[in-house]
Amino acid sequence: MRIDILSVVPELLNSPFSHSILKRALNKGIAEVHIHNPRDFSTDKHKKVDDYMYGGGAGLVMTCQPIADCIESLKKDRNYDEIIYMTPDGEQLNQAIVNEYSLKKNIMILCGHYKGIDQRIRDLYITREISIGDYVLSGGELGAAVLTDAILRIIPGAINNEESALTDSFQDNLLAPPVYTRPANFRGHKVPEVLTSGDFPKIEKWREEQAYERTKKRRPDLLQ
Ligand code: ADE
Repeated sequence: MRIDILSVVPELLNSPFSHSILKRALNKGIAEVHIHNPRDFSTDKHKKVDDYMYGGGAGLVMTCQPIADCIESLKKDRNYDEIIYMTPDGEQLNQAIVNEYSLKKNIMILCGHYKGIDQRIRDLYITREISIGDYVLSGGELGAAVLTDAILRIIPGAINNEESALTDSFQDNLLAPPVYTRPANFRGHKVPEVLTSGDFPKIEKWREEQAYERTKKRRPDLLQ
């Protein structure tokens, strides 16, 4: 799969995809992430990408031309399954949306800045608007990184043990059960006995119960 991210602060996206699972997915060639700066498309002599808000108001708005030209140059080369705008007034991201996108071929993600982007860009090009939570970030980049991370880590081949992504929190509307590693006794705190019993059906049952209990306590909304 291919993800194109449009950002006027591309430096913010340098690091998130250079480590661990995502780095492996990109190195193996099962996914590509490309970053584009709408500023490179600006026809303004100072390469401006923002301007004052019509009607007055504090803060600048990202202008149409650089974004429109950037999107159109990408669309010339391939069809996009979705053109997403990261915005706090979008639909809230969840695992179901991530799962859906992990099956797509080409996704474009537009990051806003300042007071946001001109509404006409949203009307003309954007097919879905996504928020990563009810708080306002200084730009869409961290949200785009969150979305890209969540998608890439579950595409087939990214995680060595395929089962591992299926047992994540939220995959079956349950939070993940607690996990332990060696030593079996850490300063007098012991690992639950069932986990060292070697009785795998019993371990599986214990994990299911723990997942259910944890969800009931912390996120009862997921059980409805
Ligand atoms: N841009 C600014 N705030 C955001 C949020 N909460 N989610 C996605 N993009 C954003």
